[in-house]
Amino acid sequence: MTYARLLATGSYLPERSLSNADLEKMVDTNDAWITARTGIKKRHIIAEGQGTVDLAENAARAALEAAGMEASELDLIVLATTTPDNPFPSTACLLQQRLGVHGFPAFDIQAVCSGFIYALSTADSFIRAGNAKKVLVVGAESLSRLVDWTDRGTCVLFGDGAGAVILEASEEPGILSTHLHADGRYYDHLAVNGQLSGGEVKDGAGYISMRGNEVFKFAVNNMSQAVLEALAKNDLNKEDIDWLVPHQANQRIINAVGKKLKLSADQVIMTVAEHGNTSAASVPLALDTGIRDGRIQRGQTLVLEAMGGGFTWGSAILVY
Ligand code: UT7
Repeated sequence: MTYARLLATGSYLPERSLSNADLEKMVDTNDAWITARTGIKKRHIIAEGQGTVDLAENAARAALEAAGMEASELDLIVLATTTPDNPFPSTACLLQQRLGVHGFPAFDIQAVCSGFIYALSTADSFIRAGNAKKVLVVGAESLSRLVDWTDRGTCVLFGDGAGAVILEASEEPGILSTHLHADGRYYDHLAVNGQLSGGEVKDGAGYISMRGNEVFKFAVNNMSQAVLEALAKNDLNKEDIDWLVPHQANQRIINAVGKKLKLSADQVIMTVAEHGNTSAASVPLALDTGIRDGRIQRGQTLVLEAMGGGFTWGSAILVY
């Protein structure tokens, strides 16, 4: 049987960061509120002139270096983003050009904060079917460009960044299964409503709008459920999880999911304080952190989960 094995990871955060104290000068908020309600301490903001592809390229190069691989060895790029630099071409094609390679397929996935899980699942399917052997999977976002910096209800939450993984076809266990879901009935709970036409945003605003409380509840219930689904599919129990690598949206959401699953805090990778909600980049950013600081070890069982606009949500379970 062929598995998609996680070979290496990489990530990148833009240089400029915005602290809670900085936000206090912009909107009616304070560090105590942001810390207590979200756990976020700072978020990184893309520089003028930088694009999502720049973030993706940095993360991809870090992953390639960690794998000891050249980009020419890849045969597929799947890139998750909600903030492509252009409506088209895809950011995956821009990234392929940056890496100096061509010919093999490259495409974007749009599933907002669940984008990385969707992209990982897609790459896993390609590998299992024998249609790819070495795949670069990236989550990259410049969400700060969709943030209304006068709306305290959302502007404290989001940030920019990118994370990448290299998957390789292997006879040794890697990704055991992935589980994807969507429910379009909630399309308006977390959205950017503006439509592009004639070079302008029309029929709505080009900013993130969110029903925070409802998103919160849905996130806790459905991400917990997605983890249980992954365990059940593989005849595993909660005790078999070495690490939960959750979507980094809000520390309270992560803690609530951990509590529902009866995991101890030291089994959960938590990076949200450092970069806020980076949407599709958040799971690979957390994964890269846990691997590089040595907490996540080869042979351990990891469960990844995420939830985002759409609504979309899902999980992946893998042996690292
Ligand atoms: O990937 C999925 C993406 N999104 C999420 O995961 C977000 C999910 N939702 C959340 O994380 C939380 O709902 C928030 C962090 C957005 C809000 O936390 P909350 O505990 O649900 O607060 P709330 O919306 O119920 O607001 C409580 C109070 C309100 O004031 P009143 O009406 O009680 O007087 C808000 O106006 O806090 C106020 N508030 C703020 N105060 C200071 C809202 N935002 C802020 C702020 N600073 N930034």
